[in-house]
Amino acid sequence: MNISENAFPNSWYPLCRSIDLRSGKVRTCFALGERFAVFRTVSGKVGALQAVCCHMGANLDFGHVRGEALCCPMHHWEYSHTGQCTHIPIDSNIPRCTKQQSLLCVEHYGLVFAWLGEEDPSFQPPVFPLGEKFHIASPRHFYFDAPYQTGAANAYDQHHLHSVHRREVIDSPKFYQRIDQHFGIEFQANIIGRSIYDHLLISMGKKQVHISIDCWGGNLLLMNHLGTPNHMMIALLPITHKRTRMFAVTLTPRLTSPVANFIFGKLMVNIMHHLTMMFVKQDFRVLRGMHLKPNILLPKADDSFIRWFHYWEALPRTSLAQQVMKNRKSKES
Ligand code: FES
Ligand SMILES: [Fe+2]
Repeated sequence: MNISENAFPNSWYPLCRSIDLRSGKVRTCFALGERFAVFRTVSGKVGALQAVCCHMGANLDFGHVRGEALCCPMHHWEYSHTGQCTHIPIDSNIPRCTKQQSLLCVEHYGLVFAWLGEEDPSFQPPVFPLGEKFHIASPRHFYFDAPYQTGAANAYDQHHLHSVHRREVIDSPKFYQRIDQHFGIEFQANIIGRSIYDHLLISMGKKQVHISIDCWGGNLLLMNHLGTPNHMMIALLPITHKRTRMFAVTLTPRLTSPVANFIFGKLMVNIMHHLTMMFVKQDFRVLRGMHLKPNILLPKADDSFIRWFHYWEALPRTSLAQQVMKNRKSKES
């Protein structure tokens, strides 16, 4: 494998929750081995700027929002959400090269995502087939000390379903791929565990689970518990190559009756979220400190993991340094 230490697959990376970024607020966010100042302008635009000010290097995340700009705490230069310098207090002549490195941001399912990769994103943040009508539980986030890809690979590691989650896979899983950045798996499994979650599922008449998982960009996992209203997105952020922040968002479809929606909608999505998190937490006990160095792999038991790993290795990658160069070239041309 020849993967540069500083490059990550081109993808949308979750920086923070939308609710944690109120209008006029700045947050520090460690992502992709760098420090970013993530802020929301008064009109609601979100920007993610590399935190080291391009003037003399002060920390922009200690700055404040002034209208539509982020103001550096040191000499009060102001930057727009795209990183363009818009104001220098004692000099109206802004040098052409004065631009703070920025990442394109969008908000999706309650999270702020930043794009790393080509200037025009090669795919949009993925969606569940729920249309505009769904209930969403407030996203939760966790940290673990392991490369982010351990979290994504785990979803494709059918071998651990038996040992960690007490699920017995029935038949061979199906694999599908829509574009190069996507890799999907669908499988069914018997519930053989006896945890509270397992008992709950069995008491609801579910002796089997039928799951589809769609991975996008190597770090975004859309999980559908088929036959139930449960949809969960896991979005992984590499803080460094050894530490990860994981966001989990649960969605359920809206009920047809407006009254039922009002009374049960929010309750149902929160129960689903709680139950799914019980399952996800089983992984945390084993992911901590994992290195993900595939060594002795079994052709049959590790087949789905091997396929995912080949997909992940082949993803196009960009480092922040490369992105800076690309942005500079496109600005000069
Ligand atoms: S160091 Fe930021 S404006 Fe001078
Ligand atoms: Fe797992």
